[in-house]
Amino acid sequence: MTPIEINDSWPTTPKEESFWQTQTEQFMLDPSETYLNTGSWGSLPRPVFESMVQGLEALEGNPTRNRGILLDKLREARETIGNFINAPAEDIAFVQNVTVAINMVVHGLTWQAGDEILASDQEYGAIDNCLDHAEKLWGVKVTRAAVPIPASDPEDIVAAFRKKITKKTKLLVCSHIATRTGVIIPVHLLADLAHEHGARIAVDGAHAPGMIPLDLIKSGVDFYGGNCHKWLCAPKGTGFLYTRPEHQANLHHLIVSWGYNKNGPSKEDSGLKINNQPYMWQLEHWGTREMAGYGAIKEAVDFQNNIGKEKILQRGQQLAGYFRDQLVDAPWAELCTPTHPKMTGSITTFRYSSFDFEKFNPSLYNDHRITTPVFNEENGVAQRVSTHIYNSFEQVDQLVDVLRAFQAKF
Ligand SMILES: Cc1ncc(COP(=O)(O)O)c(C=O)c1O
Repeated sequence: MTPIEINDSWPTTPKEESFWQTQTEQFMLDPSETYLNTGSWGSLPRPVFESMVQGLEALEGNPTRNRGILLDKLREARETIGNFINAPAEDIAFVQNVTVAINMVVHGLTWQAGDEILASDQEYGAIDNCLDHAEKLWGVKVTRAAVPIPASDPEDIVAAFRKKITKKTKLLVCSHIATRTGVIIPVHLLADLAHEHGARIAVDGAHAPGMIPLDLIKSGVDFYGGNCHKWLCAPKGTGFLYTRPEHQANLHHLIVSWGYNKNGPSKEDSGLKINNQPYMWQLEHWGTREMAGYGAIKEAVDFQNNIGKEKILQRGQQLAGYFRDQLVDAPWAELCTPTHPKMTGSITTFRYSSFDFEKFNPSLYNDHRITTPVFNEENGVAQRVSTHIYNSFEQVDQLVDVLRAFQAKF
């Protein structure tokens, strides 16, 4: 292990940094690069990669007979993620990603003409497409609550939704952590609001598992889609849909396969069943699929549990705060992420009004080997910076130096 050199301006200790360096060394990231884009995809720790490879190897020995090995791993992974997010394993379907999870809700429910879906104006583009499609296909009306940028208090967000909810609203759709600004939305308060109005809530939790601790039962949400391939650092193409038991019978199969039964599901004391299996497990049958990635979710959760959920969030927030503090007074940088401690996690977005997208975006990686998404917006260039457990104060310093140099040059 390379000895740690601490810069006096970092809010940390040599002991802390050496702990995080040990964690970082278990990841497969190229150490010569600065990867600040967990918001798109996380990198795998070695034990997760190895678990996936072992699963693939076991299967290829006899793709027919050895499927059982992967099915056992899947069962274990479902229990493990269930404990991690506090949701019963039987209420969780494994799906490829959040896009699939939200489509399973929006297109799996039954709509009457005139029903309304209330979403925020900060939803991810693919989810906006899903909602637009639902409008055209089912005749539902999609309305929008305007989430302030930056929001200063969780109540501001609840107020924005309260303003737009009507008697016709049947479903709220909302990100738990918004894609562009990283604002943490108080979904438990929105769940209360939805229920007061007889509506339900489907949460797009693309960024939450592995960034912030989750307790889905306590949150009161009805549907929750989560990605495992971002902050949880599980294989790409792994996610889940949690559905509260009382709503499962309302979810129709989006893709009809072996999880279907022409006699329909049955209500048992142990929950809704179809083909003698939990309903949500049967909903995920979409024909043959890759399974080793889902199996490795267990090792991804184990890796994080060994560090601790709170400690992971604190590290991400600490690095984010360090980045924010260095730019917050710069007249050329406008903070788009809230500073309220309950509304900010490990994503920080700044808008640089004077930057030229065509020069800045390619230069970041080509000249400095820094990876972050950069958005060309009407009033400037926005940059989303993700700070996760494999990132360091040194990398934040490097980014800040590059930004200052760019500002001085152009
Ligand atoms: C808020 C949000 N929702 C959904 C997604 C889509 O994720 P996926 O492509 O894994 O479904 C993203 C991806 O960045 C996101 O930021």
